[in-house]
Amino acid sequence: MTFSPPALPSVDLAARLSGRARRMTASAIREILKVTQQPDVISFAGGLPAPELFPIEEVRRAADAALTKYGPAALQYSTTEGHLPLREWIAARAGITPAHVQIVTGSQQGLDLLGKILIDEGDVVLVEAPTYLGALQSFLPYGPRYVELPTDEHGIDTDALEAVLRAHPAKLLYAIPNFQNPTGRTLSLERRRRLLELTAQYGVLVVEDDPYGKLRFRGEELPSLYQLALELTGDPDRSHVIYSSSFSKTLVPGLRDAWVQAARPIIEKLVQAKQGADLHTPTLNQMIVAELVHDVLPRQIETVKKAYGERAQDMIARLREAFPPEVQFTTPEGGMFLWVTLPEGTDTTALLTRAVERKVAFVPGSPFYALGGGQNTMRLSYSSATPEQIRRGIHALGETIREALEATR
Ligand SMILES: Cc1ncc(COP(=O)(O)O)c(C=O)c1O
Repeated sequence: MTFSPPALPSVDLAARLSGRARRMTASAIREILKVTQQPDVISFAGGLPAPELFPIEEVRRAADAALTKYGPAALQYSTTEGHLPLREWIAARAGITPAHVQIVTGSQQGLDLLGKILIDEGDVVLVEAPTYLGALQSFLPYGPRYVELPTDEHGIDTDALEAVLRAHPAKLLYAIPNFQNPTGRTLSLERRRRLLELTAQYGVLVVEDDPYGKLRFRGEELPSLYQLALELTGDPDRSHVIYSSSFSKTLVPGLRDAWVQAARPIIEKLVQAKQGADLHTPTLNQMIVAELVHDVLPRQIETVKKAYGERAQDMIARLREAFPPEVQFTTPEGGMFLWVTLPEGTDTTALLTRAVERKVAFVPGSPFYALGGGQNTMRLSYSSATPEQIRRGIHALGETIREALEATR
C-alpha cells in the first residue's frame, strides 16, 4: 500500500508579506545589468571598483597578521560597535571619539539602519535629483515621502532647498556631496555652508554619504558637511549631520567594512538596530582593515586615484570626439562616474537596446530619480574600463546616439 500524505491547504504567501516588504522593489539596475552582461559587451554600466588594483597580497598578509595577533578572538563574536583599533583610527582622523563611530557591514547597511531608526511612515525625506538608487531602495520600506531637490553642476541648488524647506516639514536630507553617484558632481563649499545653516535652522537631519571623497584626482579637497558642522559647534554630540563612509571604494568592497560617524544618541540607536540586524560586522574583516589602514590604505588610495583620473580623462576626451555637440556630460574631479544628458525627448532605456546591439552598455538615468523623469540621461562608469574599451565603447555609443537623434529629426 502506498502512503499518501494528507493534502495541506496552501498558504497565500504573497498575501502574508508585510506592507514594508510590499514597498520593496527589485533594483531596476540589476534587471538592466542582466542585459549588459554578455561577455562581448563593453559595459560602462556597473559601478565596480577596478579589480586589477585590489591589494590581494597585502590583504592576505593582513589576515595572517590578525590571526596571529588575536588568535581565536579574530574568529569569535565581537562587539556590535566594532573593532576598537579601527574605530580609534577613524575617530582620530575625524577629531572625535570612538563613541561617535559605528562600524557597519558596508555603508549600504548603514543606510538601511539609518532608515530604520530615523524614518517613520510619511516622513519627508529630501533627496538629490538624481541620487544613489541604493539609498532610495534602503529607505523605501520605512515609508518615506520623497521630495526631490534640484541640482546643477555645483550640486544641490540651495536656493531651491530653502523654498522646499519652507514648503515641507522634512525629517532628513540625504546627500552625496563628493563625486556623486550617479552624476560625478561635487557640492561647492559655499553651498555646503548654506546647506548646513538651512538644515539646522529648519531642524532637518543630514545624512552625508561619502564613499568617494578620498578619490579626488583633480582640484582641491573640500571639508565634509560633518567637518564643517563640527567646526561650527565644536561638539560631536551636537552635530545634526550623520556621516557615512566606506572602505569599499578605497580598499576593497568584498570585506564589507564601512562606518557611520554621528552624535552619541544616534550611535546608541544604531547599535541597537545593528544588534537586531547582524550582531556585528565580521570580526576578522574589521581586523584585516585595521591592519591595512596605516600603510596600505594611503598607498592604495594614490594608486586608485591615479588610475581613475587617467580613465576619466580618457573617457572625456573620447566623449568630446564621439558625441554630437548637443549631448552634455559632466567632468568629475573624482570618483567613478560621469553623467550624460541627451536632448529632451530622447529615451535612454530604448537607446540601451540599440547600444547593446553595438556591444556597449550604460545605465539609463531614470531609476536614479526618486519621483521619475530623467529619461534623457545616462550614467557611465570609467573605473574598470581599459583604454581600448573606452575607445571602442564610446565610439559605438556615439554612433548609437547619432542614429537615435537623426531618427527624431
Ligand atoms: C553613494 C553610495 N553609497 C553607498 C554605497 C554602498 O557602498 P558599500 O555598501 O559597499 O559601502 C555606494 C555603492 O556604490 C554608493 O555609490
